This record gives sequence, structure tokens and C-alpha cells, in this order.
Amino acid sequence: MNTDELRSVANAIVARQKGVLAADESNPTIKKRFDSIQVESTEENRRRYREILFTAEGIERTLGGVILFDETLRQHTRDGIPFPRLLADRGIVPGIKVDQGAKALAGHPGEKVTEGLDGLRGRLAEYKQLGAQFAKWRAVIEIDERDIPSAFGIRANAHALARYAALCQEAGLVPIVEPEVLMDGAHGIERCEAVTAQALQAVFAELDAHGVLFEGMLLKPNMVIAGKKCAHQAGVEAVAEATLRCLRRYVPAAVPGIVFLSGGQSAEDATEHLNAMNALGPQPWQVSFSYGRALQAPVLAAWQGREDRVAAAQQALLKRCDLNGLARDGKYLRAMESAT
Ligand code: 13P
Repeated sequence: MNTDELRSVANAIVARQKGVLAADESNPTIKKRFDSIQVESTEENRRRYREILFTAEGIERTLGGVILFDETLRQHTRDGIPFPRLLADRGIVPGIKVDQGAKALAGHPGEKVTEGLDGLRGRLAEYKQLGAQFAKWRAVIEIDERDIPSAFGIRANAHALARYAALCQEAGLVPIVEPEVLMDGAHGIERCEAVTAQALQAVFAELDAHGVLFEGMLLKPNMVIAGKKCAHQAGVEAVAEATLRCLRRYVPAAVPGIVFLSGGQSAEDATEHLNAMNALGPQPWQVSFSYGRALQAPVLAAWQGREDRVAAAQQALLKRCDLNGLARDGKYLRAMESAT
């Protein structure tokens, strides 16, 4: 394991003002996104859409990394430049989603565990050859009124995340470790904080047991936030404070960066929450973003699958990237949203 390389890639991804674009939707997920704008999910449409994202001018100022899906890692621009090379040439680190999705956890109705460990060593070696420098694995933890998640469900997911992370570092790839506590459900912010705490505690215990180098990884957690169906939604300051309190308790200072998922928040809320956390002053780690929907929803809305709207789509991406870049410094204002 080349620890210097792991550290340097992890730090580059969360360099000043920078974060990650999660463009690693699996084919079923991108189909859902395309359905919302009546675009057919063909291989060429998926390629074209990702090309629009990755060639947008100016995104390199605020994107330290982009996460790709297997198919996308192997695709090219119209001019024949492989996407990983295009990104790397622009100073953006290419990464790859390597998990194979969350499946029902046997013996634990209502809970899931993420699959994809079998054969992972071989796949990581190939991804590295194709130009990936980091990877992502997402564990899904749902909150239910009853006893879900169970301690076992959390442990099973933490164990899989740690096995994945150790394999990544062995292969010279920086693991992004993503234990996502879902914001679906009617639970309050306190329950989210308690479950997020349990999950982070279990994840770092397993990472440590598996010998994962904290300095050569990134954490991709949910923010601590009330469930979507909860009648009482916490304010921006309350979300920022609860999230940082929870992370400071359970995430070692050796980890270079936290890159939040957006998880179904609106683009504006995700930026505002990130901003509020950074406005609270320096933390032990960089506090950044790895947004999928919160960066791409405005892009899809602008694009609509039309070639005459490519410039507008790229403008929409650049705007979200710039605003999240400002939020990295605690300098974003909601009023900036209305500026064109
Ligand atoms: P969202 O920001 O849309 O939650 O996606 C981030 C991601 O990569 C989930 O794995």
C-alpha cells in the first residue's frame, strides 16, 4: 500500500473550496432520473449526459473528484477521449462506485446489507488500470418506528464497508466510506442523530479492526436531519450543530475529509446546510460535499434531453458547483440563488 499516494489523493479531492460530483447512478437509477424529463435511458443518452456534465467549463475550480459508474468509466467523449482521462486532465480525480447495491439482509426483515465483496479485489485492479483513483461503497440504513436498524444490521454494514475499504487501499484506491442513514420516514432529528452516532461508531471500530489507514480515506455520511415525513423539520442551524456534534464524537481527526451526500434534500437546502457547518469555524477534517441529486437535479431540469439546451444545463451545473464552493468557506447566502 502506497500510503503517501492515498493521503495525497484523499487530500486533493477535498482541497480548498472543492468537493465531489456523484455521477455514479446505476442504470436503474439513471433511468428514473431520465424518466422524470422524458429522456430514454439508452447507452448513448447516458454517455451524452455524462459528457455534458464532465465538459462543463469552470467545474474544475470546485470539483476535486467525480464518481463514475462502471459503464461510464469505460465511455468516451465524442472526440474519443476516455472520461477518466478527460477528468484527470482537468485536474479532477476520477472515482468509481464499486458496490453492487443494497439487498435484503437475511433474517432481519426491513433491513439491508450492501453486496459486492466477492471478486472485488479483481475489479479494483481493473478500475485502477482504467484510471480510477478512488472508490465508493454505499451502505443503506433505514430508520423505522420499531427496532430498525438493529445493532446487527449496523454491524453487518459496517463490516462490509471496512472489508471494502481495506481492499481499496491494498489496490491503491482511496475508499469513500458511505454509511447512509436514510431521511425517509417520520422520525425526528434526535432519532437521526442517535442512529447516525451508532452507525459511525460501528464503522470506525470496523475500519480500525481491518487496519484501514484513516489518513487515506474519506467519509460520506448523511447530515443529521429530521425524516422527510416528520411534522417538525429542524432549522438550518440545528441541522448544522447536530451534524457536527455527532461527527466530532465519532470521526477521528486523522480522516482528511467529510463529503456529505444530499440524500433527497433540495439543491438549495444541501448547500445551505453545508454552508452553516463551515460557518461554524474550522473542524478537524474538511467539511465538503459529494452530492448527486443536489448537483444534478437543476442540470436535468435545464437539459431536458435537448441539444439546444446543453449550454443552459452546463450553466446550471456550474452554478451549483460555485455555490457549494462558496459554502465550503461559509460564504454562501440563500439570496445568491436568484442571481443568474
Ligand atoms: P445524493 O446526493 O443524491 O444522495 O447521492 C449521493 C450518492 O452518491 C449516494 O450514494
